[in-house]
Amino acid sequence: MLELVFPKDTNYLGTAFGGWVLSLMDKAASVAAVRHGGANVVTARMDGVDFRVPIRVGDAVALDAQVVKVGRSSMTVRVDVYRETMATGQQELATTGFFVFVALDEEGKPRTVAPLPEGQDTRSADPDPDARP
Ligand SMILES: CC(C)(COP(=O)(O)OP(=O)(O)OC[C@H]1O[C@@H](n2cnc3c(N)ncnc32)[C@H](O)[C@@H]1OP(=O)(O)O)[C@@H](O)C(=O)NCCC(=O)NCCS
Repeated sequence: MLELVFPKDTNYLGTAFGGWVLSLMDKAASVAAVRHGGANVVTARMDGVDFRVPIRVGDAVALDAQVVKVGRSSMTVRVDVYRETMATGQQELATTGFFVFVALDEEGKPRTVAPLPEGQDTRSADPDPDARP
């Protein structure tokens, strides 16, 4: 997912407001969870979010979301957020976090989801600064 940072998304320092970044992460992670779960999902938990470097107004924000763990009805999604200087395409890992989603059936009750495919690269819990979305 790619977004642009406008002044309305920033704090009085001119850098991205954390709550705005979190909402983008939640959105990107939910797409990964819905695609894996094949069902509606809700966010159950946001975990281990690290804001490493500020994202500035005028930057682009590139988000990479991947399901890294699956329970019975829950899915843990890792989200890496990169700030991108659009003119050069240069990216830097800015924020990382883990989101747990629960798949719901038509009655809004947790429903079983498929396991991760055998051998799928789930990446370690530690962010890879060289990874690119
Ligand atoms: C998430 C929710 C559906 C779980 O319902 P529940 O009745 O507690 O369901 P269960 O106890 O059967 O748990 C279902 C699964 O969710 C997981 N789960 C529930 N709460 C969790 C939490 N806070 N963190 C991580 N996992 C959680 C359980 O571990 C279980 O996982 P598994 O099926 O893989 O073993 C319910 O708490 C809910 O609707 N929460 C509000 C969600 C929401 O509105 N989110 C938007 C942000 S406001």
